[in-house]
Amino acid sequence: MSSLLSCAPGPLQGALCVPGDKSVSHRAALFGLFATGPCRATGWLDAADTRSSLAAVRALGAEVSYADGVLEVAPGAGPEALAVRGEPVAIDCGNSGTTARLLLGLLAGWLPPAGPGVVLSGDASLSKRPMARVIDPLRDMGADITCLETPGRLPIRVRGAKLTAAEHHLPVPSAQVKTALLLAGLNAAGRTVVRGGGASRDHTERLLRVMGVQLEDLGDGDLAVAGGQVAERFDIAVPGDPSSAAFFLTAAAMIPASRVTVTGHALNEGRVGALRVLRRAGAQVAIDRARGPRQGEMLGDVTVAHDQPRPFVITAEEIPTLVDEIPVLAVLATALPGTSVISGAAELRVKESDRLALMAANLKRLGAEVTEYPDGLEITGPVRLRGGTDADPVVLETAGDHRIAMAMAIAALTAEGRCALDDPGCVAVSYPDFFTALDGLLNRG
Ligand code: S3P
Repeated sequence: MSSLLSCAPGPLQGALCVPGDKSVSHRAALFGLFATGPCRATGWLDAADTRSSLAAVRALGAEVSYADGVLEVAPGAGPEALAVRGEPVAIDCGNSGTTARLLLGLLAGWLPPAGPGVVLSGDASLSKRPMARVIDPLRDMGADITCLETPGRLPIRVRGAKLTAAEHHLPVPSAQVKTALLLAGLNAAGRTVVRGGGASRDHTERLLRVMGVQLEDLGDGDLAVAGGQVAERFDIAVPGDPSSAAFFLTAAAMIPASRVTVTGHALNEGRVGALRVLRRAGAQVAIDRARGPRQGEMLGDVTVAHDQPRPFVITAEEIPTLVDEIPVLAVLATALPGTSVISGAAELRVKESDRLALMAANLKRLGAEVTEYPDGLEITGPVRLRGGTDADPVVLETAGDHRIAMAMAIAALTAEGRCALDDPGCVAVSYPDFFTALDGLLNRG
């Protein structure tokens, strides 16, 4: 794969399917571990991140098969089989925060109390990411969790423990933390309450309900779950990932004469914030919901066309609905006439990289007018981004972060001259065929 990116010869046009939703795919792999029977997910995302979850459940005894988009997970021998091992099960979560955080919550009460437990580790990026937001409330429920090197960071050992239900208030509206606590609640004695999830994505709630688990909806995204419930097997279709679609749909909003349709796009309300921003930024956004809901998740066909660009404002309340799309929305802002503002987004500093710092630095390298704040960015456009020459391209830094790489590939399309990504291969974390799909829309594939 070439690291060199040249500017687009023209608009983006056409229709495509994007890979399955990453969040739903992680859950499909992990929840199969505690279902009562074999589970199935079609359209499952086969990428580095979700493979981490699959390898984890396999290491925990699940029987797993994957071919042609169809994942099958059967629970296997169950937690008791792990108790007799002499050594802890070693699980490498790779780059995946979802794998690590969801497993912490799941394993805390699922593992048998007597066994050696599990050691979770991750790559250099994941080893820097905060885990205390999950560990602290789990310890309040009685979880036996030890950080082996640095407090609040991987590597972490989890041993089984008898959990007691608790009432939690999330410090940040995070779906990963909410999920970890709900999964722990399923294995705890009593009724666990999770407040403060707000507008965070609700794929966990939807899949648990498909599995027959009763969740109490307390309003405003607050939830309660009674421990000891049986989770039935599931057979689901994973919709297209809005966070992957966003690169192409945003490029269509940005580049004159573009029109792109993503078919089978997830339309979960907690995931479509970026489409609302594209509309506010003056793009035409059409949503065809004719396909209807499928096993708990909505999907449809989304078409975005360039129209009348204008700047946008994104504030804290909206962030959970577009948290992973902010890098590419920052790229869009460089093409809009006026100042666009992204605030309340401090969480981006603890994603796979410090996404606010990296986006500001990369866009400035291309000549954009960007001010970085502790919790956001202000970007004034329109600015014609400038790359370098074939012999001396502007090198854009990814820090191995897939979403930075894809966002900057879109920026490079609109830049004059040559750009290069320092690590284009990192797109494999969520979208291995990203560059081929982009070429297809540029008609140069
Ligand atoms: C995810 C939730 C989000 C998101 C991440 C995936 C999930 O993180 O950024 O890519 O699958 O639950 P937070 O829950 O930490 O906001």
